[in-house]
Amino acid sequence: MQGPTSRSFEVLRFSILDECNFSCVYCVEDVRRSAPDFVPARILLSYVEKLLTQLKLKTIRITGGEPTLHPELLEIISGLRTMGVADIRMTTNGHTLSRVIDRAVQNGLGSVNISLDAVSKNAFATMSRVRDGEGVISGIDSSIALGIPVKLNCVVMRGLNDAEIVPLTQFARERGIIIRFLEVMNMGPLYGKSHSFLMPESEIVQRISETEGYAERLIRDANSTTNYYRTRKGQIFGVIANYSDPFCGDCNRLRLDSKGNVYGCLSSASRENLAGADLNGLLDRALARKQNHFLGSETSMKAIGG
Ligand code: 5AD
Ligand code: SF4
Repeated sequence: MQGPTSRSFEVLRFSILDECNFSCVYCVEDVRRSAPDFVPARILLSYVEKLLTQLKLKTIRITGGEPTLHPELLEIISGLRTMGVADIRMTTNGHTLSRVIDRAVQNGLGSVNISLDAVSKNAFATMSRVRDGEGVISGIDSSIALGIPVKLNCVVMRGLNDAEIVPLTQFARERGIIIRFLEVMNMGPLYGKSHSFLMPESEIVQRISETEGYAERLIRDANSTTNYYRTRKGQIFGVIANYSDPFCGDCNRLRLDSKGNVYGCLSSASRENLAGADLNGLLDRALARKQNHFLGSETSMKAIGG
């Protein structure tokens, strides 16, 4: 049996709720809101406490749904810090971020990834099914103003927001932050359907090279899911190429949702609840479930947060 130090999970992605104020086309079937149902911070923190008895987690990334909608987000962050988690990050759609970001950073949040799929209002509304994306920009700018590392994530869908690739790259350059483009994954509403939304890494890079000057590829770090490039103008951007360049072999992430379910891999819909007695066995099975490439999944990111 493996002991805590030999285990290779170092990063936990923790979905603290599955509610969201957006309805992104790649994530959910349509606009539908269920009544908010929050798991209290003390229960969420007890899951992590249990995992920490077996794992040396270096990084916890708080995700959702939309994590800023959890009424006890600040307590969750400070609770994780009290447990000794050194590196606490968050992935958010940014919409209500500016209301909480300064207190979140005071409580121990170290960095944020903010999703931004379009600069133009129309494309933004098409992708998020929300008219007004103004909150996202102020969320981005207030995070930058606090001096924490800020990254943008854009899921690219051919025909819907591929015309935004260059404007988004320029938006990131103006603010001095890194943007990463994600090849759309066949999850949730896209699972099992044939579609032509996938825009491969090579085309994304080509688009940027055409306007920003040839982009050269940089070396990928171990455990990184991102291929980074540098344009002729010196701007660094990334591509997360789930299909063109699968990175599953390097992945050391464990996923946990708000109900205490643990997932070893996005590809496998199989999950196990922490409430079961044998934590060691559960972690071994999660590790065994890692794939070599992404196989698609019925599960939406809304439940497991990317
Ligand atoms: N394909 C790629 N990325 C996705 N995300 C959600 N669903 C998908 C999908 N089908 C991304 C979001 C966000 C993160 C939580 O996961 O845009 O950046
Ligand atoms: Fe919400 Fe993120 Fe899903 Fe968009 S991708 S609907 S922001 S959970």
